[in-house]
Amino acid sequence: MSISQIARNIKESPTLRLNEKAAILREKGEPVIHLGGGEPKSKTPIDAIIATAGHLNTGEIRYAPADGIPALKKAIISYTEQNYGRLVTPQNVMASGGAKQALMVALHAILNPQEEVIFPSPYWVSYPEMIKLLGAIPVPALPEDGTFRPTIQDIEQRVGPYTKAVIINSPNNPSGVTYSEQFIADIVAFCEKRDIYLIMDDIYNRLVFDGKKPLNCYDYAKDFSENSKLIVINGVSKQYAMTGFRIGWAVASKRLIQVMTNIQGHQTSGPSVLLQKAAVGALNGVQSCVESLRITLQNNRDVMMAQLKTFDGVKVTKPDGTFYCFADFSAYEKDSNKLSQTLIDKVLVLTVPGAECGWEGFLRLSYCGSIKEITEGIERIKWALDPNSPNELYIGDRKLVRNWS
Ligand SMILES: Cc1ncc(COP(=O)(O)O)c(C=O)c1O
Repeated sequence: MSISQIARNIKESPTLRLNEKAAILREKGEPVIHLGGGEPKSKTPIDAIIATAGHLNTGEIRYAPADGIPALKKAIISYTEQNYGRLVTPQNVMASGGAKQALMVALHAILNPQEEVIFPSPYWVSYPEMIKLLGAIPVPALPEDGTFRPTIQDIEQRVGPYTKAVIINSPNNPSGVTYSEQFIADIVAFCEKRDIYLIMDDIYNRLVFDGKKPLNCYDYAKDFSENSKLIVINGVSKQYAMTGFRIGWAVASKRLIQVMTNIQGHQTSGPSVLLQKAAVGALNGVQSCVESLRITLQNNRDVMMAQLKTFDGVKVTKPDGTFYCFADFSAYEKDSNKLSQTLIDKVLVLTVPGAECGWEGFLRLSYCGSIKEITEGIERIKWALDPNSPNELYIGDRKLVRNWS
């Protein structure tokens, strides 16, 4: 089969592969626990359902403007004002098929082949592949001090003549940490000074714990002119538990949004009007669902942290937000793909190998499921890895025997 050079370089999404694997195992009746997932389990907000059903009932589901329906743009403008204190116009906003597509279209609008995009490591699995899809070059920036939190020097060192953009995701997938306010201030100022695009992937922005305030990049920006290269990405997937609706957005300069809209218009003609209505419902509806999700996730994090502390060989940094933690399992196994596969094979627990996020020896564990899934999942992992474990483990009435060391 003849496929393009670019396509040949693109890896399958490891997280989507895990979702599929979990679904197949579940269908076979296997008692699998999915600690690799990236979606909260709360129900769709009722306001989103009512808004979608209302439009569906009209029986007139048509094409919509490529940059989003006016009602969604209006809701995104209110969201930006409420959450960032920043007043933008409809021409500064483009709705898209999830934050993923908003990011992809933004990258499409700014990158030439061979140009470079820097992002801190560990990183979300899709950044390198999205960049490679455009023939551009991903440049992960590993914090020199060995932590999950980059400094401006970590980024600055990697800037060269081909650097076109920096992507920042805080709170971060996979580490769950938020970057310091100082770092955000520095990176905004640095990108403005060096005329580099700064893409803030704020998809987890409101899901922060322990009384922390969501960081606001606009607080540090000076350039709000048409030359501004600041792009803020967000969406309803995580904060409203609406992953399946596939609605995200970008806020940027009018000129860039126009270019992005041209691209999206030819790619997909924009997201489905029905799903945009759902996002309008969620954004304009009762907001207590976001806070209740945030509190649930914080509690889940505490449960997972307490359990991981019982391992002799696991090192973990307490997450400040999201629903992930990124734990060092290298004392048990340095090859994270091998370790992740072992955990599926031996105890039916799915995890994301750290190598997919740029760090070998680590696993990304999600705490977006139920307390039962978290506690049982971590217990199973402990049983599989701890040489002092009892010989047998029961999963329901299935007996597992530990015949490895
Ligand atoms: C860091 C990050 N950005 C963007 C996305 C994509 O979100 P969406 O489902 O809205 O496309 C994800 C989803 O996992 C993510 O973790």
